[in-house]
Amino acid sequence: MSEKKVALTTLGCKVNQYESAALEELFRRRGYRVVDFDSPADVYIINTCTVTHLGDRKSRQLIRRAGRTNPEAVVAVTGCYAQTAPDEVLKVEGVDLVVGAGHRADIVDLVESVSKGNQIKAVEDIARCREFEELPGESHQGRVRAFLKIQEGCENYCAYCIIPYARGPLRSRAPENVLDGVRSLVARGFKEVVLTGIHTGAYGRDKHEGVNLVRLLASLANVPGLVRLRLSSLEPNDITPELLDLMAEGPPFCRHLHIPLQSGDDYILKRMRRRYDTNFFRRLAAGVRDKLPEAGITTDIMVGFPGEEDEHFRNGCAFVREMRFSALHVFKYSPRRGTPAAEFPGQVDPRVKEMRSRELINIGYALARSFAARHLDKILPVLVEQAVDVGEDSSRRVDQSSSGGDAAELPAAGEVYEGLTDNYIRVFFPAREKWRGQLADVKVTALSGAGLKGRIIYK
Ligand code: 5AD
Repeated sequence: MSEKKVALTTLGCKVNQYESAALEELFRRRGYRVVDFDSPADVYIINTCTVTHLGDRKSRQLIRRAGRTNPEAVVAVTGCYAQTAPDEVLKVEGVDLVVGAGHRADIVDLVESVSKGNQIKAVEDIARCREFEELPGESHQGRVRAFLKIQEGCENYCAYCIIPYARGPLRSRAPENVLDGVRSLVARGFKEVVLTGIHTGAYGRDKHEGVNLVRLLASLANVPGLVRLRLSSLEPNDITPELLDLMAEGPPFCRHLHIPLQSGDDYILKRMRRRYDTNFFRRLAAGVRDKLPEAGITTDIMVGFPGEEDEHFRNGCAFVREMRFSALHVFKYSPRRGTPAAEFPGQVDPRVKEMRSRELINIGYALARSFAARHLDKILPVLVEQAVDVGEDSSRRVDQSSSGGDAAELPAAGEVYEGLTDNYIRVFFPAREKWRGQLADVKVTALSGAGLKGRIIYK
């Protein structure tokens, strides 16, 4: 019998990317070959996202696409959309199997038990799940920066957010397993590890006394050979002076914090059931900059939350400018069934959301450029990722700017590589494949879109 092939596609966040890498590894261990999602395979896995309705829609498109690529294949759907709306997913053409968040580790057995025409739904009430599910996520990662999941679940229940229903209660990974994970990634040559979670700042809260994020980080910092340690999203309330003091000790800690603000208006923050106001955030940002000069502070902002009037939006824009974020992720509010905000009065017209979103994206682009501009003519350590593929993802690099940026001035694609500084500025420079995954000193010569360009300094 010929080798079986499995193809995965992943939507959404870094946690999903980590979990997809783990699922691939589970299939590999059972003798499967992992192939491209667009090529013929025996099994297709769609790891879905449901944070907005766009996640649902894209998930459904990818499910249908898999069914068309090979109508004989087993099509399995997992991730947050599968967990929260399994019956809706089962109705999408071609679906054989829906795997909930509590059954990821059994995915290969589940796939192999499918007989075409008999759908399987392996989804349980995630609210009852109390254990962190160990998956073999460190053994393989296809990229230069490795993601490592240290925590699962969220109990914040912000008014707009469906994720607590998709991911369940707080579960922290055992510190010794996180340490092993980081060691194994370093042994495999990864220079940068990004710690991810659903409510990462709550790490340890479900464990006994003494397990917390700061202690975990302090132990990881001593792993020999770890060059960069980055934290993904942290809630404003979880960033403590102790954490900042530790990060201020320097490498391996990256001078970068992603702190989701969501709105820069106090009335909207309150309606969102966020647990801070703009004053709190202002003091926090000042504290970060005091202890970590040149830190990149990036954020998520939502526009068009129910009740957001022009005045609230204007306040928000002013606050975003005042905070000098180095990048914004802008989300248009999307009502999620089962969340309180979906029933709030004052739902905002989609056209207004669109206009506000564009305006904020432009503000974000300008802020990113002025942050980047402070690094002109400097020599910056950059972790070399991949050759720039102008076709594939150029929108991200120029941050959907209407002004276009000056990425076009770069030399021909194929020889230009991109990478990140520790404070999260994207840098473009000519390089060769042997640099991939290495840290290079790049002399910055100019701005490029929301990032920088330069050349490697050879020592
Ligand atoms: N609509 C739009 N954006 C949302 N987010 C979370 N829930 C929603 C929603 N219902 C955004 C938040 C969060 C990011 C991951 O997704 O900004 O930080």
